[in-house]
Amino acid sequence: MGRTLTASDMNVPEGVLNRIAEARSASVLTGAGVSAESGIPTFRGAGGIWEKYDFRKLATPQGFKEDPELVWEWYQLRQREMLKAAPNPAHLVIADMERHYPQFSVLTQNIDGMHKRAGSNHIVELHGSIWRLRCVRDGLVTQTDAPVVEIPPLCQCGSILRPDVVWFGEPLSDEVLDAASRAAASSEVMFVIGTSAVVYPAAALPIITKNSGGLVIEVNTEPTDVTTYADVSLMGPAGKMLPALWNLIRRTESFMKEHPFIPNR
Ligand code: APR
Repeated sequence: MGRTLTASDMNVPEGVLNRIAEARSASVLTGAGVSAESGIPTFRGAGGIWEKYDFRKLATPQGFKEDPELVWEWYQLRQREMLKAAPNPAHLVIADMERHYPQFSVLTQNIDGMHKRAGSNHIVELHGSIWRLRCVRDGLVTQTDAPVVEIPPLCQCGSILRPDVVWFGEPLSDEVLDAASRAAASSEVMFVIGTSAVVYPAAALPIITKNSGGLVIEVNTEPTDVTTYADVSLMGPAGKMLPALWNLIRRTESFMKEHPFIPNR
């Protein structure tokens, strides 16, 4: 307890650590679990959002058509919760990784905007963002950093705005999917953090990396389908496991050789 985790505690072979440190291209696929330690609830599992709320009413185009006020009340509540939350050490390590890898993408299923707040720049928001609103008539997207006030919020054109997120039964935009698939295919290593990996096409991204010869490193509090093919699966909270893993990577000879002047190592 309280002790620094070592490579052997974490069961990460030296060769894998070196490959992670030497890689020039990397990506991170995140799910709700990466924000769990920031106090934002996950969707599945005990206490998950879909245990408490009906996704058909709140996260489908049909639900929105039937009761936009109800859907917006829920999104307003979530915007307020997300605004109160702060990025945790896992988000911060992911932002730090971007400074190390010449080619780096955060592929996130989260709509909470937490990666941006932590300092990540190259982010692909697979399922959209709770901080964007989209006109249902002309598709015009507006950005906000405050929870909606008026429910439902209206566009300048007078028609209703919806959250610019991907609901069940909706496809991801071609642009987003292309960017994510390209990043996955060209990544020498993909870190898969806090996702149950049951929602596609996001769950296919680490498979693309694996099939392209890249490493897949998973961090999750419990096993998932990714565990069956990951090169390393670290079981534990992301806010603890990811900083520990990143420390090990930064202490490898390969990392030191490439970044001889980086302080605080
Ligand atoms: N650290 C790491 N992993 C964690 C932590 C933690 N502190 N807490 C929970 N987890 C793991 C859980 O074990 C689970 O595997 O995070 C995962 C969360 O899974 P889901 O709730 O299913 O979230 P996600 O994978 O992001 O869901 C995908 O489903 O409902 C849709 O659109 C929604 O983007 C979401 C998509």
